[in-house]
Amino acid sequence: MKLQNKVALITGGTSGIGLETAKQFRDEGAYVIVTGVNPERLEAATNELGPDALVIAADLRNTADLDKVIAAIRTRYDHIDVLFANAGAGTAAPLEAVTDEQIDEQFSLNFKGVFFTVQKASPLLVSGSSVILTTSFLNRVGAPGLSILSASKAAVRSLALTLGAELASRGIRVNAISPGPISTPFHSKLGLSDADLTAVAAGIEAQVPLGRFGEASEIARTVVFLASDDSSFMTGSEIIVDGGISHF
Ligand SMILES: NC(=O)c1ccc[n+]([C@@H]2O[C@H](COP(=O)([O-])OP(=O)(O)OC[C@H]3O[C@@H](n4cnc5c(N)ncnc54)[C@H](OP(=O)(O)O)[C@@H]3O)[C@@H](O)[C@H]2O)c1
Repeated sequence: MKLQNKVALITGGTSGIGLETAKQFRDEGAYVIVTGVNPERLEAATNELGPDALVIAADLRNTADLDKVIAAIRTRYDHIDVLFANAGAGTAAPLEAVTDEQIDEQFSLNFKGVFFTVQKASPLLVSGSSVILTTSFLNRVGAPGLSILSASKAAVRSLALTLGAELASRGIRVNAISPGPISTPFHSKLGLSDADLTAVAAGIEAQVPLGRFGEASEIARTVVFLASDDSSFMTGSEIIVDGGISHF
């Protein structure tokens, strides 16, 4: 097993890519800690991941919630081997409709949430540990109506470089996973009407050279690679798993 006895924190681990990654980490022998917000999804994740998983309610826009997560890990495990800073969300809006609040909301979770997750987990990260940040194909593709989400993900791409450079001397690797369009609840949370969502999804699918949305498991397999010693000489990299949408 690739992650035997590793302690792995996965933010946004109650749904989609994070939940699938938590399952694969567990199956590779890791002790998993997942965070989320929605009570039903927290409960469903508890049932899916089994009794050994630690499932914690935490809104990552709130640093006090992050302190609570880190304190719980400190109490149970005392250290972290793998940090998957993955929680994220977006709101679709064209240029003229973007509001101050939307910008704050998205940067607060997608950028500040990721930044403070790494900062607050940092004292528990041991030499040899792996940090993985979730970016998006949107940091390389211009998608109308997704300016703020895309910019927040470009900021996270930058963070993987800077934090990779800062943490290398402690033997900590920092890389990013850049998913293409993936079948998860993410899109239903963009604030689009059902009709718009269907049209947008069809439009995106048509742009993917491989002709389909990806599955969360296809992202999770790459995250397992980045978490494990299989990627031991990688830091500061972003692996793109996007069906080719950002290449052609
Ligand atoms: N799906 C795609 O096409 C796609 C493409 C590129 C990048 N990504 C990125 O992949 C990551 C995972 O997305 P996904 O597709 O798996 O979507 P998802 O199924 O909606 O999962 C998002 C996770 O983030 C959590 N989350 C949302 N708001 C939060 C907050 N304020 N504080 C803490 N956690 C919060 C959610 O918790 P609740 O469920 O409790 O709200 C959930 O666990 C995101 O960073 C997303 O930007 C997704």
